Amino acid sequence: MNPIDGFTNTFGSPPTIAASAPGRVNLIGEHTDYNGGAVLPAALQRRIQVALARQDAPTITIKSTRFDDLIERPLGDAKRDDWTDYAMGALWKASELGWLTGGVKLHIESDIPDGAGVSSSAALITAILRAASIVGQVATTAVDIAKHARAVENDYIGMPCGIMDQMAVGLADHGEALALDTSDLSYDVIDIPEDWGIAVIHSGVRRELADGRYKARFEECQAAAEHLKTDQLCRLGQAQMKALSEMPDPLRKRARHVMTEHKRAVQASDAMKTGDLNTFAALMNESHRSYSQDFEASTPVIDDLVNDALNIGAKGARLTGGGFGGCIVALVEKPKLENWVEELLDRHENAWRV
Ligand code: GLA
Repeated sequence: MNPIDGFTNTFGSPPTIAASAPGRVNLIGEHTDYNGGAVLPAALQRRIQVALARQDAPTITIKSTRFDDLIERPLGDAKRDDWTDYAMGALWKASELGWLTGGVKLHIESDIPDGAGVSSSAALITAILRAASIVGQVATTAVDIAKHARAVENDYIGMPCGIMDQMAVGLADHGEALALDTSDLSYDVIDIPEDWGIAVIHSGVRRELADGRYKARFEECQAAAEHLKTDQLCRLGQAQMKALSEMPDPLRKRARHVMTEHKRAVQASDAMKTGDLNTFAALMNESHRSYSQDFEASTPVIDDLVNDALNIGAKGARLTGGGFGGCIVALVEKPKLENWVEELLDRHENAWRV
């Protein structure tokens, strides 16, 4: 159903506005986005669509097609650790900006799985902020919306993420990758070559970003950056490289991951621009090794899935997203893609294609 009809069915009158945003998969560049490095996410076909209207009552009333209940939360309600926090946080930000104040009725339709590492939360926040900016008739940009959406995660949800997800869902469309330099937010939208088959496979192991392990890695990177007296751990100079080699583990390994991963993300963007599938795939494989061994963010189930993905013919495969479960992303020659997916899913009964 489209969100306008969905809203009308739920609330008995039409919405003022509808907006949407896609999910994303990160092709390469993991945990570089809060260390001043490069990332290369791509937009998914799956999207979140929202429709909303003001209401007089000082209440946010939320309906999602993924759940039966209509949820009511008072305006200004603090975080309570369920999925409606993302909507509350986005509306809190919209109100703070003066884009949309007071009570709101909100209808949500989504085919982006949550807890999968494909940015359902960034998509929801972005879609709501887009809708609010239209209601408020404000002149804003996709980059500003991405910054506001990140602030919702950082300040309302308490998740210390970088800006990759918000920029990806705000600036890329399906079939495109976003080569983003998070040190200055310069970017390039690249068409994914048509003969590249990209598949996102969920391991069956759910992940929660807010569960503390992401934050633990964030804090280790901060500690390494402080030790090396930099705020861009991805870009170390000669003297810092020497200090890095003397830093104790695990900080040394964490820093090594983000530094090498930044370089790989830059090289991968170039390889995508020239259609060099083999180089891109090799960078993905090296990225997984680094993410698993240096950043220690993989799990046995994920490593097994990545190994099998390669054994049955993927050119490249890696854990994608914040780590500790969720999805792998694989690069397969397009003509082989469907058979490859079928074979991988036959071998892993808990896995499914996103
Ligand atoms: C999550 C965060 C992003 C990024 C990735 C890891 O998706 O939201 O900001 O740090 O993890 O690359």
